[in-house]
Amino acid sequence: MKIRDICLKNPLILAPMAGITHLPFRLLAKESGCALVTTEMVSANGLIHRAKKTEELLASCKEERPLCVQIFGADPETMARAAEIVESKGADILDINLGCPVRKVIRNGAGVALMRDPRKVKELLRRVRKATNIPLTVKMRTGWKPTGEEAVYVAQIAEDCGVNAITIHPRTAAQKFTGKADWSLIARIKSLVSIPVIGNGDIKTPEDVIKMQRETGCDGVMIGRAAVGNPWIFSQCLDLIHKRDYSLTDPGTRLKGILRYIGYMLAHFGEERAVLMLRSSLGLYVKGLPNSSRFRGSITRLKSINEAVARVEEYFATCFQAVA
Ligand SMILES: Cc1cc2nc3c(=O)[nH]c(=O)nc-3n(C[C@H](O)[C@H](O)[C@H](O)COP(=O)(O)O)c2cc1C
Repeated sequence: MKIRDICLKNPLILAPMAGITHLPFRLLAKESGCALVTTEMVSANGLIHRAKKTEELLASCKEERPLCVQIFGADPETMARAAEIVESKGADILDINLGCPVRKVIRNGAGVALMRDPRKVKELLRRVRKATNIPLTVKMRTGWKPTGEEAVYVAQIAEDCGVNAITIHPRTAAQKFTGKADWSLIARIKSLVSIPVIGNGDIKTPEDVIKMQRETGCDGVMIGRAAVGNPWIFSQCLDLIHKRDYSLTDPGTRLKGILRYIGYMLAHFGEERAVLMLRSSLGLYVKGLPNSSRFRGSITRLKSINEAVARVEEYFATCFQAVA
């Protein structure tokens, strides 16, 4: 799959997820074979005001490239200036958020609120397209009406404005993450535009990737929640795509991955912040494994990186025994 001049080595894309798809997590996804990783949504307003926390979200390294940076906002001029900043910081692809259903974002006219205002979308995309030379994508939802007419209209506007690929998560604003993603809308949009279409929503297993491709004809498949705590899903999907049997992640691979994750967290956030974040995120990596709740209990008061490594190694020593 190609997004303008950027060739992706396979169709698998990591979804942007606030608080989750930071650089350490993106590196794990990449190592597992994901072709394109995406930052969490970055505030255009924060970028143009040079807010330190916002700028930090653009940190990257060559191992994760190509990188897609997603921005959100409602004002076309602000978005265009933010696009220039994103390009100047070295992003390979710029994505515009047209799907966030969070109240605070909608209240400001951004995210999925934009899908109610196609004229504004047109102006915004035109301004952003003019402001940047890197490939431009949009990620949207069904919109506000379950019929999908807003998504169809916005997809066509996006193509007309020079957008290079469209991701569609076919749930309405009101659905947030409930109900079922309506994959038929992915197929409908694919049949209407000639730029690549990336399908998203409810990929839970590698088999779902094949099913979505078959049912919708989408060019790329974006995976979100199923990769949280399980970045290895990308290598399993690749095995299935290449018609090889895939196996569940063995404890040894998982342990090595978690230890690398801890190292990346330390390098990226520094010990104090990394430890606080590991208290809540490490548990996700052992979901479904034996005695995982005991492990989660053991990390709620982590004080140092060394302690995090020790707790993980201890847990896996017992886990291996349990598996044997
Ligand atoms: C915790 C969390 C944070 C998210 N943050 C973003 C975001 O920053 N930008 C965005 O476009 N979508 C965001 N999403 C939506 C996902 O990118 C994706 O569209 C959605 O989870 C459906 O895909 P899935 O079923 O594979 O999880 C987020 C989802 C979750 C669960």
